[in-house]
Amino acid sequence: MNTKTSVISQQELDIQLEYCDKISYYWRQRDCVPSAYVETYGCQQNEADSERIRGLLSQCGYIITDRAEGADVVVMNTCAIREHAEQRVFGNLGALTHTKRRHPRQKIFLCGCMAGQEAVVDRIKKSFPHVDGVFNTHHLWQFPEILHRVLTLGKRTFFVEDEAGSIAEGLPQLRDSSLKAWVSIMYGCNNFCTYCIVPYVRGRERSRKSDDILKECQDVIAQGAKEITLLGQNVNSYGKDLEENIDFSDLLQKIAEIPGDFLIRFMTSHPRDAGKKLFDTMAANPKIAKQLHLPFQSGSSRVLKAMNRHYDREKYLELVSYAKSVMPELVLTSDVIVGFPGETEDEFEETISLIEKVRYDALFTFIFSPRGGTPAASMIDPTPKEEKNRRFDRLCQVQNAISEEIHKEYIGKALRCLVDGTDADLLTARTEGGRLVRFPGNRELVGSFALIRITGATTWSLTGELA
Ligand code: SAH
Ligand code: SF4
Ligand code: F3S
Repeated sequence: MNTKTSVISQQELDIQLEYCDKISYYWRQRDCVPSAYVETYGCQQNEADSERIRGLLSQCGYIITDRAEGADVVVMNTCAIREHAEQRVFGNLGALTHTKRRHPRQKIFLCGCMAGQEAVVDRIKKSFPHVDGVFNTHHLWQFPEILHRVLTLGKRTFFVEDEAGSIAEGLPQLRDSSLKAWVSIMYGCNNFCTYCIVPYVRGRERSRKSDDILKECQDVIAQGAKEITLLGQNVNSYGKDLEENIDFSDLLQKIAEIPGDFLIRFMTSHPRDAGKKLFDTMAANPKIAKQLHLPFQSGSSRVLKAMNRHYDREKYLELVSYAKSVMPELVLTSDVIVGFPGETEDEFEETISLIEKVRYDALFTFIFSPRGGTPAASMIDPTPKEEKNRRFDRLCQVQNAISEEIHKEYIGKALRCLVDGTDADLLTARTEGGRLVRFPGNRELVGSFALIRITGATTWSLTGELA
C-alpha cells in the first residue's frame, strides 16, 4: 500500500498556466470580461476544490459570479455520496439547458465525485448534450486545458480516466473567506468502508509534504486567517505514504507552533487510526480547537464489521472516554448510518444506546443509500423503507433532545468565540467547539475573537451577549 506519492511537475503545471494566458487573450481579443459560476455539492473537500477551480478561472480572466444565469462558464462540482445528492445534481443540470438557451455562449462543465463514475459519465454523454466538458477529481488541475479546448475547438471534452492519483501543488486558489481557510493535507481514501463510494471516485490515499502544508498555513495566517481547518477523508493516517517520518499529531504540533492568534480544526478522524497521541496533542495545545468529529456509523460491532470499519463498539467507547478524560470541555460530533443492509432492530437499539452513552453535541444522520460498485450495494437488505424511516426519525428525536440538553448547559458561561459574520441584525460567531452563537454587536467585531456570555439555547444553536 505504501506507494510513493507522485507530485505533478512544475513543467506540467506551467503548461496549464499557459492555457490560462491563452484563454485570457481569447477574451481580450473579443473585448469581453467573461464571468463564471461554480456550484458546489458535498463535503469540505469539494469546497476546497471549488476554491481551486475559481482560482484557475480567475487566472483565465473570468470574474466569479453567484448565479448560473448569464455566466459564460458554469461548473457543477458534484458529490456522489448518496443517491439523493446525485439526483439533485441531475435535476439542476437539466435546468441549465434554459440558462444556456438564453445565453448561447455559456459553457457547462461537470466535475467532482460524480465524474469519477463511468455510469454517470455515460449518462452525461448520452442524455445531457448541453454539457461541454466533464473531468474527475484527478484531472482538476488540467481544467484550463479542458476549457481552452471547449472554447477554441467547440468540442465536448472528457478527462475522466481513472488515474492512480497524484498531488498538484501551487494551483491558484480563490478562497471564499479570508477568516477561515480550508487546507487539504491529503487526498483520497484507502479504507473501503463497504457502503462508501469515496475510494472509487477519489483514488488512493496520498499525503502532501509537511513543508508544503506548513507554508500554506503560514501564508493564510499572514493574510489574516483566524481559523484553519485541515482536510482529509481520514486525517489520522496522514504521512503513512510519505518518505518523511511524520504522523498527524506531529503535523498538528508543527502547525500550532506557527506564531499568531488562530485556531486549528480538522476533519475527518477515523476511529481506527485515532489514538492517545492525537488526544494528548490536542489537550496540550491551546491553538487546537477542543472539537472532534469522530464518525461511529453504527453502535453494533456486528454491523461495524460488515461495514469494514476496523473497530468495534468497545474500542470506540474507549477512545471517546480517553479523549474526554484529557479534554473535559471536548465538543464531540459524529456521523451515523441507519438501515445498513441486515441491520436488526436490536442492532439499531445499540446505535441508540451508544448515542445516549456518548452524548454528542450534534450528529449527522443518514439512511443507508446503496452506491453502485460498492460491496454493500449487493448485500441482502430485507428491512422495508418505512421501517428505516421510522428508525431514522427515532434516532433524530433522541439526538435532538441530547443536543438541546447539552446546549442548555452552556447558559451562563462566557466563551471565547470567533465572530465570523452577520445574520439579519445579529452577529454570528462560533465557539471553540464549533457551536453557532448569535448575538447583538457592532459589525466591526467580525473577524476577531470575542468573549460572549451565553444567554439562550435551542437544539441547533446558542444566543448570547458580549461579556
Ligand atoms: N471519511 C469520512 C466520511 C466521509 S462521507 C469518514 O470515514 O468518517 C460522510 C458520511 O457520509 C460518512 O461518515 C457516512 O456516515 C455517510 N455515508 C457515506 N456513504 C454513505 C452511503 N452509501 N449511505 C448513507 N450514508 C453514507
Ligand atoms: Fe468512505 Fe470509509 Fe473512506 Fe470515510 S473512511 S471516505 S466512509 S471509505
Ligand atoms: Fe461527496 Fe465526494 Fe465529499 S462523494 S462527500 S464530495 S468526497
